[in-house]
Amino acid sequence: MTDHPIHPALKRTGSGVAADGTFDMPTRVQFGRGVISTLPDEVKAFGASIVMVVTDPGIIATGLVDPIVADLKKAGLGVTIFDKVQPNPRDIHCIEGAELARSEGTQLFVGIGGGSAIDTAKCIAVLLTNGGHPRDWEDFGALQHDPVPVIAIPTTAGTGSEVSPSSIILDTVRKKKMNLFDPRICPRVALVDPDVTFSVPARLTAETGMDALSHSIDSLHCRLDTPASDAMALEGARLNALYLERAVADGSDIEARCGMVQASLVSGLAVGISDVAGCHSIAEAVGATYDHPHGMCCAIGLPMIMEYNLPESRDKYVRLAHAFGIDTSGMDDDTAAQAAIDYVRDRNRRLGIPALAELIDETDLDLLAEKAFANTSTPSNPRSADVADFREIFVRELRLNAADGQAREAS
Ligand SMILES: [Fe+2]
Repeated sequence: MTDHPIHPALKRTGSGVAADGTFDMPTRVQFGRGVISTLPDEVKAFGASIVMVVTDPGIIATGLVDPIVADLKKAGLGVTIFDKVQPNPRDIHCIEGAELARSEGTQLFVGIGGGSAIDTAKCIAVLLTNGGHPRDWEDFGALQHDPVPVIAIPTTAGTGSEVSPSSIILDTVRKKKMNLFDPRICPRVALVDPDVTFSVPARLTAETGMDALSHSIDSLHCRLDTPASDAMALEGARLNALYLERAVADGSDIEARCGMVQASLVSGLAVGISDVAGCHSIAEAVGATYDHPHGMCCAIGLPMIMEYNLPESRDKYVRLAHAFGIDTSGMDDDTAAQAAIDYVRDRNRRLGIPALAELIDETDLDLLAEKAFANTSTPSNPRSADVADFREIFVRELRLNAADGQAREAS
């Protein structure tokens, strides 16, 4: 159905501060402790009376959804719950959710959860007005009709989906992640409440926090970056460096949870202005092939793509080193940029992120390279990469993993 419009990164003229481009920031954000209590008023402001809550069974089990639904019903709103969302959200569930929404007369969606739940809510909202299969609306600017409004309530600090124009959905036939991308897909309202992140377990906090960092870094080295997105990306990286490991070590550390919510939000805004890039090309190839968690795949993909991009992105990584709080005095730019990459690798180790070699089958390298190259955001990577380049990026990382393993055995 789509004629695959030209990727914005391929249409851009000029570079640096002389570059051209367009960005939208259409989501109204309420942030702070307790802001989810405003949900019924936010729904009513759209004139909606029939609402669908889109979430997953894990969020239901935490008990978070019941009081939210009770508040909506107390306000006189009709509520349907669709709770079939899975990690790496599936096209089949978006289609099923849209059929249910059509039969219920849904006028507004409330996505409650991590990126999977919010992305599913956004995709169902697209299907309700545009019909078809999610793959019909893949790519930039393909939508024919405005989606139904979505209000996003993120329960993890990492996705950025609450403010992003993307909905990333797994095509279960092609085992490929699709990117439905259009500013109209942005949630209309995001209720960003740190209180709902307190119960997130340490491992999920670590993985989603590294997803947030990948949004900062992909936005920073992206071909579609702007001074506005750079400012947000660097602040996201600074907050991430300050607070992620604190939030992982002690989930009840209120300042750390608030800091990570802000890190996630500001890095989500950064990629909403620019785009993600090669880290997500790699992460989505691995995630779609093996159903591994997105944040973990992003954590692994970050140093891989940074090493590859270094010749094009040296200045950006020097600024990133400063954002991380690394003392670069006495370092030349190459050393300072490498220090930022080393920081990310070290952090993955401290957080217990597995090595690439533990997650993939080497016989799949050609397939993974092809999927990474075909990713919608590959044209946004600062250094061009074809299938052979991506294959070499994977091979290089496996070699590093093998060397690390040998060094550990020897010590
Ligand atoms: Fe991501």
